[in-house]
Amino acid sequence: MSTETKAGQSQQAGLEQRVAELLARMTVTEKVGQMSQRNGADGKLPDDLRSALREGRIGSILNETDRDTVNEMQRIAVEESRLGIPLLMGRDVIHGFRTILPIPLGQAATWNPQLVEKGARVAALEAASVGINWTFAPMIDISRDPRWGRIAESFGEDPWLTGVFGAAMVRGFQGDFSQPGNIAACAKHFAGYGASESGRDYNTTNIPENELRNVYLPPFKAAVDAGVAALMTSFSDLNGVPASGNRLLLKQVLREEWGFPGFVVSDWASIEQLTVHGFAADDKAAALAAAGAGLNMEMASTTYESHLPALLEQGQIGMAELDRMVGDILRTKIRMGLFEHPFTDPSGYPAIANPEHLAVARQLALQSLVLLENRDRTLPLDGGSLKSLAVIGPLADDPYEQLGTWIFDGDPALSRTPLEAIQRLLGDRVAVNHVRAMETSRSRSREGFTEAVEAARSADAVLLFLGEESILSGETHSRADIGLPGSQAQLVAALRETGKPLIAVIMAGRPLTLGNIVDKVDALLFAWHPGTMGGPAIADVLFGVESPSGKLPATFPLMVGQVPIYYNHKPTGRPGTAENFTHMDDIPLRAPQYSWGFGSFHLDAGFEPLYEFGYGLSYAQFAYSDIEVSQAEFGLDEEIRIQAVVRNDGAVEAEEVVQLYVRDLVGNVTRPVRELKGFQRIRLQPGERRTVSFVLGPDDLAFYGRDMQLMAEPGEFQAWIGGSSKAALGTAFRLRAGSDSGTR
Ligand code: NOJ
Repeated sequence: MSTETKAGQSQQAGLEQRVAELLARMTVTEKVGQMSQRNGADGKLPDDLRSALREGRIGSILNETDRDTVNEMQRIAVEESRLGIPLLMGRDVIHGFRTILPIPLGQAATWNPQLVEKGARVAALEAASVGINWTFAPMIDISRDPRWGRIAESFGEDPWLTGVFGAAMVRGFQGDFSQPGNIAACAKHFAGYGASESGRDYNTTNIPENELRNVYLPPFKAAVDAGVAALMTSFSDLNGVPASGNRLLLKQVLREEWGFPGFVVSDWASIEQLTVHGFAADDKAAALAAAGAGLNMEMASTTYESHLPALLEQGQIGMAELDRMVGDILRTKIRMGLFEHPFTDPSGYPAIANPEHLAVARQLALQSLVLLENRDRTLPLDGGSLKSLAVIGPLADDPYEQLGTWIFDGDPALSRTPLEAIQRLLGDRVAVNHVRAMETSRSRSREGFTEAVEAARSADAVLLFLGEESILSGETHSRADIGLPGSQAQLVAALRETGKPLIAVIMAGRPLTLGNIVDKVDALLFAWHPGTMGGPAIADVLFGVESPSGKLPATFPLMVGQVPIYYNHKPTGRPGTAENFTHMDDIPLRAPQYSWGFGSFHLDAGFEPLYEFGYGLSYAQFAYSDIEVSQAEFGLDEEIRIQAVVRNDGAVEAEEVVQLYVRDLVGNVTRPVRELKGFQRIRLQPGERRTVSFVLGPDDLAFYGRDMQLMAEPGEFQAWIGGSSKAALGTAFRLRAGSDSGTR
């Protein structure tokens, strides 16, 4: 055994011994206390909370961000309670604390995990400086339904990409826990929440186990492998068993299969809500269902506090089981160094929203911008030759709305809006005329249109800032229609009439259906909710300081009725093809029935989305060629290299996200038409070419088969390298059976 392994083992043994010693000294009340999380009290510390902390009846607080109050709570827990166990102080630090980064869906559009890790680090430092030591992020629910408001908090539709970003955020928040400013992460919502029926929040999910394992669980496995401290259960009902009482998830998968050493917290009152689901008759039965599944900590509701002691006494929960659940929480607190450093000293932290933090926010915003259309190279605008510019729309100069959902601690006063950034970039040379035109994105009134049209007429170009305000996405904020709200499409049409170059910048918390404006604008830039530094990032792209380089992490449907529509779908027995798509207008009134062919598509929408996963334009032009595999066949103990040449045929230096997709042609269960297996963000000078290569092993091709076992199945594969999930440059290879044990 190496010295390192020995040291690791004795450290682990020391940790387990500390946990066991603490458990041996704890009363049942104190044990259940560790399993109970209460909401904070807005900077107040009422007497009943003080005594609960003193008596060890609470192990964690959420939503207290007044540093003095946090320190006082920790002091009571550490100095006045019998065992001196410090508190976990939780908060939703979802995409930044005071400095707001782009919404997670926007961060995913960067395809830059190193930058996302840096962003999480910034958020952790700012949050830790007021005493927060645990964030309820990353949210790694696979989201294939843009109606669902919480898609904004997710990394989109791809299981692997979501896992890469989830792990990056975990590393950014937690580090190795040895430095001040590292905070515990919490991967959520375990599991399947993104599949809520019709995108209505908290709704039922029905996910066959094979799909659960191949699509919804892999990001959680990636977070667990990255050492995430905690998981949060989902509000939702999964196949008839709500997640907070789901033994398959919490026991079998998480503990038995993955060996997760951390702890699981419920979502807000989701244990109590087991009664509302009709899964438990009363609070006591709810507590039993959750504890029986191994759910360690209850958020907000109090069924554990009220009923676990009796359940223990009646033998319905064993002491060993209780100790295991409490032990997971204590182990995490010890690993985090909380016993050694329970208090927060602000002098140990960099200033909140310091220039370095703002620079990370700006870089994330910049790389999250996805250029969807750019006819006749309308963009970038030439600031030098412009004389006048009309900046129109409800989101051009709104410091709050550009921040997006979940910004409890965000400070709109720090926001730099697009209008301000454009004016700063252009200086006095260009006359910038700003017209809001609509009070909010949802306004139906067209009163402001006249002024907007006049401004457009007297300008050389029009920049139109449209989209959704923050409140239209996020928790509980689902939409049935995902087009531009209010009269925005009519505003586009009115401005189109002026004949002036029309550039739309859309800020939104989800993919939108943009079919009704896409032909009326000359350029379309999707900015998500870009956060504090959204303005300068957008201005840099509009005026060519930087080329856009974001790529879509979620499919943009043509019409909402296509949802769910995602790139990694199954082939079906009758795939949609260009031949069998007929437009509504071409359908005969009567027979011949099916004259347009037998394929999987909509008569009025076809089978393609408006913009596919991975898509995004650049000011450069990237050409892909010379795809090669290192060997046509490889064995189960080998790796294969797949490479292609990428050339910048454009006139500007720019970054491109090179993507690798693979298809397993025949499987023990049907396999997706394409799956993302690798990506690299590269920067190329004009004329520069680079060979980009990816290494794949059998593990990268593995999937859960019919028997729910993970397997790399020998057979034929296709691979493509390119700039989106529609990459056309392809090749093929074969995975050879190590022995002759084909599983078919
Ligand atoms: C409910 C949300 O579902 C969850 O994501 C969040 O962390 C908790 N509330 C705490 O605010």
